[in-house]
Amino acid sequence: MTVASAPGKIILVGEHAVVYGRPAVAVPVSQVRARAAVERASEGQGIAIIAKDLGQRILLGGEEGWRSSDPLARTVIGTLNHLGLSRGQDLTISVESDIPIARGLGSGAAVSTAIVRAMAQHFSRDLSPQEVSQIVFGVERIHHGTPSGIDNTVIAYERPIYFVQGKAVETLAVGKALNLLIGDTGESSPTKDVVGAVRRRWQQSPPRYEFLFDRIAQIAARVRQAMAEGDLVQVGRLMDENHQLLRELGVSSPLLDSLVRAASDRGALGAKLSGAGRGGNMIALVTPAKRRGLEEALLSSGAERVIATEVPPSRNGSPAAEIWKRATSFNEGTV
Ligand code: PMV
Repeated sequence: MTVASAPGKIILVGEHAVVYGRPAVAVPVSQVRARAAVERASEGQGIAIIAKDLGQRILLGGEEGWRSSDPLARTVIGTLNHLGLSRGQDLTISVESDIPIARGLGSGAAVSTAIVRAMAQHFSRDLSPQEVSQIVFGVERIHHGTPSGIDNTVIAYERPIYFVQGKAVETLAVGKALNLLIGDTGESSPTKDVVGAVRRRWQQSPPRYEFLFDRIAQIAARVRQAMAEGDLVQVGRLMDENHQLLRELGVSSPLLDSLVRAASDRGALGAKLSGAGRGGNMIALVTPAKRRGLEEALLSSGAERVIATEVPPSRNGSPAAEIWKRATSFNEGTV
C-alpha cells in the first residue's frame, strides 16, 4: 500500500483579485490534511475509490464510470492519463480528510493532490509539484468555474507562495514565523457562486472593480516584502486593509465582519476574511502571547471552531517535495 497526504491552505491576501490576474499570497495549513492510500486489488475488480467520510464508493469501469464528472474519479483518470497508464488497472484507492469542506481551506484540491501523489508512488513515478498541481487544476476547473489555480498550487508546493495566474510560481521567503488563527463561521460558501457574483458586478462596472483589484494587488506585493523582512506588524496592517477592500467587493458577511472586529479588539496584528467569503473562514495574525485569548474571543463571538496554524520561517534546503513524503498514518476502512 502506498500512502500520501496533502495539507489544507488559506489565502493570506489577494483572493478574488487573483482571478483577474493580480497577485495573491497563500500558505499551506499543515495541521489539517487529506490522505490517500492506493493498493492493488484482486484481478478484474477495476478501480474502486472509497471516501469513507463522504460515504462515497465509486467503481470506475464501463463507459459511464469513465465519463463521471465526480472530482475523485476525474483525479484518478487525470493521473492515469498523465502517467500514460491504461485504464485496465485493479486498484483500491481510499481517501480520508480532516480538512473542513467548503470553508476556503482547499479540501477538494487537497484530496485530489493526495490521490495524485499516492498513485504516482504506487506506480513508482516521481511527479514534480508542478505536475501534481497541473493534474489537480484540471479537476478544479470542472467544479469551480474559473479557478485562478492558487489552491492547487499552494497545496502541491506545500510552501507559502506568491501567485499570479499563468506565471511561474514564486515560493516566498518568511523572515519570522506567522501565527495564524483560522476562525470558521460554520457557514459553507460555494466558491463558484461568490466568484460568479463578483464577476457580474465587475461586468456592470469594470473601472470600479479594476481599481479595487489594483489596490489589492499592491497589498499582495507589500505583504510579500513584509513577510520576507519578518515585519509582522506591517503584514497585519495590510491584512486589515485587504479586509476593507473585500467588503467593498461585497464578499464579506455580518459574521465575518464581527469575527474580524473581535480579533482586532483583542489585539490581533491583523484580521480578514479568507477565501471566497460570504461565509467560510476568517484569519487573524496573532502574537503567541495573545493567541489563547484571541481563540476564546473568536469562539465567543460566534466562530464554530478555530484552527491555530504557524507558517514557519523559511529555511534553506527544505524542498517542498520532501514535506509530503514524511510518514503519514492512514485509517483504513470501507463504506
Ligand atoms: O477556495 P477558496 O474559498 O479559498 O476561494 C478561492 C479564492 C478565490 O480567489 C475567490 C477564487 C480563486 O479561484 O482564486
